[in-house]
Amino acid sequence: MTHADPAIRIAELRQEIEAHDYRYYVLAQPIVSDTEYDALFQELLRLEADHPELVSPESPTQRPGGMVETSFAPVRHEVPMLSLANAFDRAGIEAWEARNARLVEGRGFTYAVEPKIDGLAISLRYERGRLRLAATRGDGLTGEDVTLNVRTISEIPEVLPEPLDLEVRGEVYMATAEFAALNLRRAEAGEPLFANPRNAAAGSLRQQDPRVTRGRPLRFWAYGAVGLSDVASHHEALDQLAGLGLPVWPERAVVADLAEAWAYCERLGERRPTLPFEIDGVVIKVDALRDQAELGAIGREPRWALAFKYPPTQATTRLLEIQVSVGRTGTLNPVAVLAPVVVGGVTVARATLHTEEEIARKDLRIGDVVVVQRAGDVIP
Ligand code: IVH
Repeated sequence: MTHADPAIRIAELRQEIEAHDYRYYVLAQPIVSDTEYDALFQELLRLEADHPELVSPESPTQRPGGMVETSFAPVRHEVPMLSLANAFDRAGIEAWEARNARLVEGRGFTYAVEPKIDGLAISLRYERGRLRLAATRGDGLTGEDVTLNVRTISEIPEVLPEPLDLEVRGEVYMATAEFAALNLRRAEAGEPLFANPRNAAAGSLRQQDPRVTRGRPLRFWAYGAVGLSDVASHHEALDQLAGLGLPVWPERAVVADLAEAWAYCERLGERRPTLPFEIDGVVIKVDALRDQAELGAIGREPRWALAFKYPPTQATTRLLEIQVSVGRTGTLNPVAVLAPVVVGGVTVARATLHTEEEIARKDLRIGDVVVVQRAGDVIP
């Protein structure tokens, strides 16, 4: 139900978004998909644009991310950690380029393209080549000190081959197979399962005890840096990071125009199911740092980068009923009857619940909000 009075609807949206931020950032247990969250956020942005008198500094649109309060020490990011504007189709990407082209008077861009990894952003501060501080993104301005936990990630070098002062930015994630193995171990131990690799990565990084984090298969891809000298482009920056021993996606590419960027999105989209980690899209970045500086940012989003998002493989809906069907061999199979929801382009109204034990383990009840995964799995 949406409310006709914009002031009331805006208040509702702010409350809802804050609740989702808390579940996402603090509990690492979101109950809506990114797409649904984005839709709420977009609606709020639109309403505030139409009613500027209703914009307030407390609105989630006025800060660069979710605000959280936790027991990790706060770390101020000297250069804010920004987020990305989204596009969902080729037209959206073209509109983005057209806006940018106007700002630089028609000059063409080359683009750096790389996967949008579905993990969580961190910043690594190296001083004289030694890892001194690792922080989560937090709200983009202030994150949390997770240095001890990050030191357990073997892919992240403690010492660089050169004594550089450098901030590396990238994504901590869990590989799909390692995530599945972790969940299997947890199921055997009777521990609650993680809903997806991103939640597992987030939960693992935010452990109070680094020994727990050490037992989790966390990995890292670097996608940016602050403080490199002698670089004129994003791809040169990533090449330098690779040279310093940081993991950088090997199939990153520089493309001559948007048509090639789109081809990269399509190619990677086809390979998405077989990649060793989850991606939710492709990040397209204007390659030349000079162009990036000229384009700048609006609010929390740089104009020079865009996330092209693939269709989601998860959606939330409500569990209406549990039916039992009798299989060919006489086995009883519980089936969830769901309020119909579109997942990855397919409308889903039923999902298997596997066994009765599974229902009990998930504590599924009629009326619950459930997350439907395209693989067929239902996670309450
Ligand atoms: S660049 C200036 N590159 O997406 C833009 N972000 O929605 C800063 N992410 O917080 C981010 N893969 O956690 C960039 N190849 C990639 C990425 C990436 C995943 C995440 C990152 C960021 C979020 C923005």
